[in-house]
Parts: sequence; structure tokens; C-alpha cells
Amino acid sequence: MHGSELLGSGDLARCCCLMGWAPWPGVPAIRHGRSIDSAGILVKDAPMLGIDLKGKRAFIAGVADDGGFGFAIAKCLYEAGATVCVGTWPPAYGVFTKLLEKGKFDESLTLRDGSKMEFEKIYALDADYDTLEDIPEELRESRRYKQHNDVSIAGVAAEMKKDFGDTPLDMVVHSLANGPEVKKPLLETSRKGYLAAVGVSAYSYASLVSHFGSLVKPGGSFVALSYMAAARVIPFYGGGMSSAKAALESDTRVLAYEAGRKWGHRVNSISAGPYNSRAAGAIGPMQLMIDYASKNSPLTSELTAEEVGTSTAFLCSSLSSGITGTVMYVDKGYHTMGMTVELADEISAVVGPSHGRG
Ligand SMILES: NC(=O)c1ccc[n+]([C@@H]2O[C@H](COP(=O)([O-])OP(=O)(O)OC[C@H]3O[C@@H](n4cnc5c(N)ncnc54)[C@H](O)[C@@H]3O)[C@@H](O)[C@H]2O)c1
Repeated sequence: MHGSELLGSGDLARCCCLMGWAPWPGVPAIRHGRSIDSAGILVKDAPMLGIDLKGKRAFIAGVADDGGFGFAIAKCLYEAGATVCVGTWPPAYGVFTKLLEKGKFDESLTLRDGSKMEFEKIYALDADYDTLEDIPEELRESRRYKQHNDVSIAGVAAEMKKDFGDTPLDMVVHSLANGPEVKKPLLETSRKGYLAAVGVSAYSYASLVSHFGSLVKPGGSFVALSYMAAARVIPFYGGGMSSAKAALESDTRVLAYEAGRKWGHRVNSISAGPYNSRAAGAIGPMQLMIDYASKNSPLTSELTAEEVGTSTAFLCSSLSSGITGTVMYVDKGYHTMGMTVELADEISAVVGPSHGRG
């Protein structure tokens, strides 16, 4: 039998259990991804995502265009059945919402079944500030900020409560970073630039968990995006950004403990491989890093944003209910390598082909 497997009713129940869905009379057993037809055939590779987040709501901090991880994560969570609210940096809010309205993102918003993702609400969020009082008067009164009420993390949490009730959320994703001196090596980074990078890119995760923790139903999930520079030297990832990612990963563990004990929430991070987003473009010629990673990873295809999205959906789902405090690499295995393939080739020219280079 090609492309499908025949299931008995016991198999069906077992399969549903394994996949985290409960089969009950009158309701199609699996709605996304693999589906089961009336003859009990498990159809593989059905188009929608094989994770069920139906009836759940996500908040993703850090979506301002269709080119980064946040947007791809939104699509995956939406495809899994969640409703999705996003937080957008005020300087980018106007352009993002205008382009959405004009249909400029229609193609990117299109899902595998042809329908279109819709954001439930787009909040203006500046993750640099925890409360309204923290935002300098001059910034609050500036053109891109004064049209919004309170763009601080606490302000957005309060607005969400007003919009959707006391515990409106099931999952929160932190997909934002900023390092004003990212192009400077650490030796030339100012204290101000370093602290700015750590404040926006790392402390904001702690603040997000702190302010949104009580809005998330018990057993909820937080996920942040990290990068391998937290643990290894990546030249050109400067300005304190490597320090910020190291802090983010350490905080992931501590927050997992504290939020786990306080609310039963899980807190994880995904360390993603290089990807050509708008933010990454600010660091330098990303394609060189992407090509290098492809050349030297166990899996040689380029990382897609969707792969980060589906991994996030997994970490947000009950399928990962036992996982917290973890930094999960989604980088085609690049982090596991201890030698460049170029050197492996040179050595194999002398001693013969090595494993995997046959
Ligand atoms: N692209 C990569 O190669 C890569 C690799 C590993 C990890 N990451 C991480 O993924 C996350 C998302 O980045 P991306 O590469 O998808 O780029 P992106 O441009 O899609 O996302 C960065 C977002 O951060 C937002 N932002 C910046 N300052 C903010 C602030 N003060 N308040 C609120 N939002 C703010 C930007 O508006 C933008 O939407 C970041 O944490 C990044 O470090 C990226």
C-alpha cells in the first residue's frame, strides 16, 4: 500500500493518543496533518499541520513583516488551530498594518489549504519598557508612539485582559531582538550599547513571562528565539548580542523553574540557525553564513522559517508537556559539528573517505 496505512479501530485510538488528539464519536479524529478517511485509512502528508492547538490563543511578540521567524511561527500556530495576536514595535506598526490592509502580505498569509491567516489583534509593543512610566516622555509624545495607549509590556498585558478576559492566553512567543551596536566587536562596544542589547533582547523575555504569566492558562508555554552565539564565538554578532543570547538561555532555565512552580507554565527557547530575516540582514551578508552552515551541517538544505515555526508549535503543544527549561537547536544539526567539512575533505584525501563523506 503506497502512501497510506490501514488502521484498525484500536490502532486509531492509539494513534490519536500518540498524536495528542482524543477521538470521540461524530468528530473527525484528526483534523490537521495526517487525517483518517471513512475506511480507517491513515492518509499521510495531508497539507495542514499535524499538531492540534484548536481553541487556544497565542501572543507573539516581534512580528513586523512577513520575512522573519515571528511571522512563520504565527502561520504554524494558526495552521494548528490557534488564534494569533501579535505585538509589533511601534516604529514598524504603521507600515506593517498598512501593508497588511493593502493586501501586500496576502501571498505570505496564504496557508497550505488555500485559506488566509488573520491576526486576531495587532498590539503596539515596545519590549524595551516594562511599564508606561518607564517610557521617556519625549518618546511617548513622538509621532509613532502617541497614537497608542500604553505600549509597554505591562500595558499590552493589561489591554489583552481588557480585550479577552483574565486568562486569555495559552502560549507566548518572544521573537524579537535589537542590538544598536551589533556591528561592533565586543572590545569596541559601549556599556550603553551592551546594556541596550541585553535589555531589549534578553530582559524582555523575563519581563514578558513576569507580566503575561498570570494571563496564560495553567500549563501554558513560553518560547523565545535564541542563537548559537550564546555558547560559541560568532564573529560579527557583536554589540553585546552574544551576551544577550547567553542571558536569554540562562534565563530560560531560571524562568522555567520559577514559572513552573508559580503557574505550571513551561519556558523554553529555540536556538535557530542563520536565516535571512530583516533583523539578521542588519548584522551583515547573511547568505554567506547560511551557505557556510549548509556546507558544514549534518543536514545540508537551508533552514526554513517554517521549520522554526513547526518546532515552536511542538513546544507550544501538549506533545511537549514534559519539556521545560530547554534550549532546543533548530539548525539542521550545525551546532553538533566540531570540524569543517573542508577540513574533513582534506583529511579524507590523505586517509580515505570518513563516515558520511563516502
Ligand atoms: N535570523 C536569524 O538568523 C536568527 C537566528 C537565530 C535567532 N534569531 C532570533 O529570532 C528572533 C526574531 O528575529 P528574526 O531574525 O526573525 O527577525 P525579525 O526582523 O523578523 O524580528 C525581529 C523583530 O524584533 C522587533 N523588535 C526590535 N526591537 C523591538 C522592541 N524594542 N520591542 C518590540 N519589538 C522589537 C522588530 O520590529 C522585529 O519585528 C530574534 O530574537 C533573533 O535574534 C534569528
